[in-house]
Amino acid sequence: MQSFEYYSPTEIIFGKGAEEKTAEKVKKHGGSRVFIVYGGGSVVKSGLLARLQNQLEAAGIPYDSIGGVQPNPLMSLARKGIQQALEFKADFILAVGGGSVIDTSKAIAHGIADPEVDIWEYWSGKRPITKTTPVGVVLTISAAGSETSNSAVLTNDEIGKKCGTNTDLNRPRFAIMNPELTYTLPPYQIACGTADIIMHTLERYMTHTEGNNFTDRVAEELIKNVMKFGKKALANRKDYEAMSELMWCGSVSHTGFTGLGRVMDFAAHKLGHELGGKFNITHGASLTIMWPAWARHVYMDKPERFAQFAERVCGVNSGTVEERARAGIRTMEEFFKNDLGLPTCFSESEIGVQDESVLEYLADMCTGGGKNKVANFRPLDRENCLAIYRAANH
Ligand code: NZQ
Ligand code: ZN
Repeated sequence: MQSFEYYSPTEIIFGKGAEEKTAEKVKKHGGSRVFIVYGGGSVVKSGLLARLQNQLEAAGIPYDSIGGVQPNPLMSLARKGIQQALEFKADFILAVGGGSVIDTSKAIAHGIADPEVDIWEYWSGKRPITKTTPVGVVLTISAAGSETSNSAVLTNDEIGKKCGTNTDLNRPRFAIMNPELTYTLPPYQIACGTADIIMHTLERYMTHTEGNNFTDRVAEELIKNVMKFGKKALANRKDYEAMSELMWCGSVSHTGFTGLGRVMDFAAHKLGHELGGKFNITHGASLTIMWPAWARHVYMDKPERFAQFAERVCGVNSGTVEERARAGIRTMEEFFKNDLGLPTCFSESEIGVQDESVLEYLADMCTGGGKNKVANFRPLDRENCLAIYRAANH
């Protein structure tokens, strides 16, 4: 176990009817003028947005709102939100939705805290984030884990580049989680969310840090649990137990807790984000496309780690270390494809098989034109990225 610092300050309000405490929690965390951010309309249709607006009104809290956040959220909409929130003199941002809405809210929160700075400077890594505005969340989908994470991912629509920025200033003040609010999710979003939750822990699990410890056991149990309840949720999206397990595991999976004391990898996320930036593919699907190709490319760097995963999570208990490692990769691939119905290569997705020039472009975007390496299990240079994109391109 390596040394670590762990900061997870988000207040969790979990369970049926939790959203009724929104105004109370806004006040508790210092909000007096609230800027609400939401997506393409699901919260309008479900009546959640109107219920929250009425609640704020009854509590004497003025609010303004912006909608229209799309999956793979755009920097341009965040900039628009910053202007509107500044004019409204907001001192609190309330995200009502999923990862895309929450990440846009985080961007608006940073933007209004220092209006002189163009927010792309934060995402491009030119400038660190040093101040922000409090963000609260009413969560409607179990997936990204942004409701507690230190991360925010946006696409710069001027250049088609999707990237994240990590700082504890990204951590929301509170997260309201009522699993019933996820009952209206389309099955495809439940599947993509399940994959994303698994990947947030799996990408922390694949490491060269030695130690067979508590963090491993937490990670293994979380992934097994999410595989089990992801299937149940797909069979019946009004299964409260299944939706609860997905919701809580979704948050725990990306707070950092399941990777404490070790170096994390996150290769599939880096490779997948380039697919999201170029093709606007759903985040979870981008991960299930990239992970099998990545895993087969690198597993021989430490087959024992993959074999341990195969034994403890996938129940593989025969064969050599290498055979078990390969069987574990196959099990996950089959789970993504057969149980979740998600793509595990380009041709199974709406992207289709791509020309070599596109793969070169993706590898360049991943590595800054070959200048950088990405991820940690094997730091991937441009050639590695290209080989993995090629392996997924069938
Ligand atoms: O926009 P609306 O109409 O609300 O519809 C959304 C959207 O189409 C729909 N939806 C959400 N809740 C619903 C619902 N539909 C019916 N009923 C409900 N209760 O679901 C669709 C997807 O929403 P989105 O917010 O995009 O989902 P998700 O939570 O998966 O977020 C994905 C984004 O988060 C980023 C991803 O890259 C992607 O851009 N990530 C953010 C992370 C973070 N900040 O920590 C970590 C992740 O690795 C990820 O990269
Ligand atoms: Zn993710």
